[in-house]
Amino acid sequence: MRTRAAKPQADVMFRRRSDGGNSPYQLLPDLSAAEYEALKADVAARGVLVPIERDEEGRTLDGHHRERICGELGITDYPVIVRTGLSEQAKVEHLLKVNLLRRHLGQVAWAQAFRRLAESRGATLGSRGGPAGNRRTVEQLAAELGVDRSTAFRRLGLADKLAPHADLAAKVDAGEMEPKRALEVVRTRDAEARPEPPASAIPATADCRLGDFREVLADVENGSVDLIYTDPPYLGSTMAIYEDLGSFAARVLKPDGLLLCEVGTMFLPEAIRLLEQHLRYHWCIGLVLPGKRARVHARHVVNGWRPVLAFARTDGEPRRWLYDLFTVPDPPTKAWHPWEKAVAPARYYIDKLTDPGDLVVDPFLGSGTNAIAAVSLGRRFVGCDIDPKAMHATRVRLAEGVES
Ligand SMILES: C[S@@+](CC[C@H](N)C(=O)[O-])C[C@H]1O[C@@H](n2cnc3c(N)ncnc32)[C@H](O)[C@@H]1O
Repeated sequence: MRTRAAKPQADVMFRRRSDGGNSPYQLLPDLSAAEYEALKADVAARGVLVPIERDEEGRTLDGHHRERICGELGITDYPVIVRTGLSEQAKVEHLLKVNLLRRHLGQVAWAQAFRRLAESRGATLGSRGGPAGNRRTVEQLAAELGVDRSTAFRRLGLADKLAPHADLAAKVDAGEMEPKRALEVVRTRDAEARPEPPASAIPATADCRLGDFREVLADVENGSVDLIYTDPPYLGSTMAIYEDLGSFAARVLKPDGLLLCEVGTMFLPEAIRLLEQHLRYHWCIGLVLPGKRARVHARHVVNGWRPVLAFARTDGEPRRWLYDLFTVPDPPTKAWHPWEKAVAPARYYIDKLTDPGDLVVDPFLGSGTNAIAAVSLGRRFVGCDIDPKAMHATRVRLAEGVES
């Protein structure tokens, strides 16, 4: 059954501040320190322009911040509206709606207020993952607030997912973090919180080691590897790693083996120069990326692809046909690693360039995307990462048999 909110009755009068801080109705989060100071400066300059609202018992319904500021500034005469004859539910409805319409709330605070308002009307919104029932109440309420239905659902879902992460919710509402990035951080935290799987749960064909590839892969036999498929860090300061990668590949690749190495387009010339110290340039593959195109502001480029360099041994000759364009169907989940890549291209090239039982290596595992691809195709796999969190993600993914 839906209860209709009573229409508030109002008396406007001027009151001396005597009863601030007595209210159970502060249902919205406090203003940030900066917002509070800005409001205070405005009240000091122009007085209280929007009346404070109280019920007939003198409890503040709306205007807690203005009331506190008046106390701090010693202002005693400010406008007060007394709303009479409201039920408890009508009071909650009234003050939440006033704030949802008037105050500039961040997405999370907006969703929290919206949820309380919907619940005060008897709707039950699902917990994590967004509202489950009472879609009509949500739709009607969204319309009353001038927000479209999908925006309301999106904000409710965001607030649900950020509920256990107050630090991220605060950053989103302060405009310091994009909601998308906050959700990525949540997923990474969830992955990190997963228990370490037992060694027996990890496929025997996957040998994943923690440490610097120059040390922990030193025992990979000369000329034993069919394909190195990897995605090294490509920030400027780590470029020297490419020379060591080239040296490693030249030692361990079979004569017809290949190194496929994802590279940021910006660093392509440097990566080629460093890899060429030990290997022979073979080709460059283009991965056509899904989703929104990224803007590279430093170069004024709208970017829609990523290169994968193919290098061979200087004395070797790869024999398989290489298709140099691959359209990545879906973006990576970013659930496991901040630099996580999609599984699909690794799967495609490992499938085309090796046979079941062949040895595939990735010295920069991250969350094990390439390990997942190799193992799922029946290849033997050796890889490593220097970061324990990345290694944990790889082990969990391999144990769970996750492919995306
Ligand atoms: C771009 S990320 C790989 C992401 C991966 N493709 C994925 O989908 O999750 C590069 C990884 O290389 C690791 N790394 C950096 N230097 C390393 C080194 N010297 N030896 C081994 N791993 C290293 C980093 O810790 C990082 O996880």
